[in-house]
Amino acid sequence: MKRIFGLILGVAVAVSLFAFAFTYWQNYQEQNLLLDDLSRHSALLAESFKEAIEPNYSIKKNPALDKLLDKDAGKERLTGLVIYDVTGALVASSSTISKGAINFAAVAEAAIKGDTTVRQVSSVDGDKLFVLADPLHSDGAVTGALVVVQNANYLDAVAGEVWTTNLVRLFVQVLVFLIAIILLLRWLIFQPMKHILESIRQIRTGTISDELTKLKVYGFFHPIAVEIAKMSESLLNARQAASEEARLRLEKLDTPWTAERLKEFIKHNLKGRPIIVVSNREPYSHSKVDGEITYSVPSSGLVTALEPIMEACGGLWVAHGSGDADKEVVDSNDKVALPPDEPKYTLKRIWLSEKEVKGHYVGFSNEALWPLCHMVHTRPVFRKNDWLEYRKVNGKFAQSLLAEIKDMEQPIILVQDYHFALLPAMIKKSRPDAEVGIFWHIPWPGAEAFNICPWRKAIVEGMLGADVVGFHTQQYCNNFLDTARKEIESIVDIEQFSVTHDGHTSYIKPLPISVALTNVAAKKTQQKSLVLQEAGVKTKYVAVGVDRMDYTKGILERLRGLEFFFETHPSYQEELTFVQVAPLSRQSVEKYRQFAEEVRTEVERINEKFGTSAWTPIVLIDRNLTHEELDPLYQVADVCLVTPLNDGMNLVAKEYVAAQDDESGVLVLSKFTGAARDLKDALIINPYSAEETSEAIYQALTMSQLEQRRRIKKMRESIKNKNIYRWAAELIRAVANLGSNEISL
Ligand code: G6P
Repeated sequence: MKRIFGLILGVAVAVSLFAFAFTYWQNYQEQNLLLDDLSRHSALLAESFKEAIEPNYSIKKNPALDKLLDKDAGKERLTGLVIYDVTGALVASSSTISKGAINFAAVAEAAIKGDTTVRQVSSVDGDKLFVLADPLHSDGAVTGALVVVQNANYLDAVAGEVWTTNLVRLFVQVLVFLIAIILLLRWLIFQPMKHILESIRQIRTGTISDELTKLKVYGFFHPIAVEIAKMSESLLNARQAASEEARLRLEKLDTPWTAERLKEFIKHNLKGRPIIVVSNREPYSHSKVDGEITYSVPSSGLVTALEPIMEACGGLWVAHGSGDADKEVVDSNDKVALPPDEPKYTLKRIWLSEKEVKGHYVGFSNEALWPLCHMVHTRPVFRKNDWLEYRKVNGKFAQSLLAEIKDMEQPIILVQDYHFALLPAMIKKSRPDAEVGIFWHIPWPGAEAFNICPWRKAIVEGMLGADVVGFHTQQYCNNFLDTARKEIESIVDIEQFSVTHDGHTSYIKPLPISVALTNVAAKKTQQKSLVLQEAGVKTKYVAVGVDRMDYTKGILERLRGLEFFFETHPSYQEELTFVQVAPLSRQSVEKYRQFAEEVRTEVERINEKFGTSAWTPIVLIDRNLTHEELDPLYQVADVCLVTPLNDGMNLVAKEYVAAQDDESGVLVLSKFTGAARDLKDALIINPYSAEETSEAIYQALTMSQLEQRRRIKKMRESIKNKNIYRWAAELIRAVANLGSNEISL
């Protein structure tokens, strides 16, 4: 685009330069013609005066002569006349020429000397004058000179007019030229291209409309359009066949869930009812790097899980716009189509002030609810102001959502996580027909532990506005039921697993979340990890840990386990490198800043203790790695250490297993994760015990290939069967009240 505009500008500049040169030349010609004219006129005047002067001419001053010179002076352009004698002395001049201005002696002398007419253009007192000196004769001898002075100011006026007319014409021409070019480009190139691109995009994403199959593009692009139309028609047919096949497959419960199957499931069961996801963290955030807008995917379990679902089903995702360039890419409704390269769903961004983020996100969500639910020796901080902001932000999201669903019938709203405990009740109050689910991605503590929260009643009541409250494990569901029973007036049905409060019943469901592995053979083994190459890791064995830099993840305990391992198994020194990927997280929360510092210090200490010039035992990477970087790292790693002190699920464990398409590698997993209930073939440990961690590392490094394969295979099977698409289908089925718990048509 820039190039095209550069080209058009270049042409405009060239046309302008040409027009300038032409105007200059035209003006030059015009001035010459006018000067010739003036010269001729002056010569005629001189002739007529000479006829009257020469017969009576004497060098003496003579009043009759002055009178004669005054006769026509000042009329039309004639400024005046002057007579000089043969010595160059002034003899007479018309009164219209001021004395100070009479300095035409030099021109007169030239005329006398050469006995010829001399012309000159000069400037006197700001006036442009045309001067013509003609010799006077008496008896054939030169006796003086007559100087005719004409006002030539109009020459400048004419030149100005020529320039103005030509420049205005040039401006209009360039403008017309530019408009014509832009219209032509738009009509002949941009619009057909846009049409073609849109049709290719629709063909690729399978959202092709009938109109596009009959692509109407004429001109240069017509042959391409014809081919595209044919291609889209055959793709449409192929898609319909695939969709029918997927629909038929839905009836067989033992086939794995895929994006396609989820799409079919939704199409079949919801019949066009919209799905809206709400979360605090957005799936993509835009920022400016060196003046260019770029985007990134935040490191978040929630995003990892929900993004593939939105890609499969489309719909609206409402989240806080936190990137520094987020505002620059949204439309007038604060919406942006995502993923950026291949849009499949819409993100609506909600803007929060610094005060709101501080109270809602930093304060109540991450300094109160997060430690309260995780119970890992970090005390929750309950501040009244944080709570008020938390409530306000929940209200703000509710308002925005209610506006979005104004014209939707029975929308399905899937609220995500602990940032929005109050949202379900707020929505239900205004829209009882909306079907609302809240999924709590973190643990729910025992009723006794939750008891310390000053606003526990409001939180539980807010959540119970939802039709379905989902947790990762049965234990968290049990804890929630206990809490509800204890904190609010309600009927708790432990057979149905429901709570009825204020006339509304909510079902409490264990829905273990997962990743998108659908087909064991789908991925190809990648041999190299660029991350390891960049870090200079060359050891025989590699262990890896991937976590947000968070105190619940057990990173310090893991490091102690490694230290103990190197101490008790010195033969593995210089043989094993541990790569800890820990992108900085929640740096606005002080505890997280302190924790990051502690981890860095601990890594340095251990590296100093064991490291050699050729070996760094622990490599700490604190940036966010993309999936393209992580997958090869997972594949190359012999061991993955997932050792949180408490974790709702932990998707890194599942991602590691999913990436092992060659069925090798060992997962060491904390028993305090939700994932430990799904991945029973991992080496399950208590992360607080350095000995257990160390022993598990040793067991992993010495495990036979056969045993590794057996374990990985079983875990991959379990992920394949209970993948993220199935999770979404179960959640949607429960929220939309689709009846039986069977996940089929
Ligand atoms: C946990 C929460 C998610 C959250 C993620 C990242 O996994 O359950 O809801 O998205 O942490 O946290 P952040 O504060 O960066 O969104």
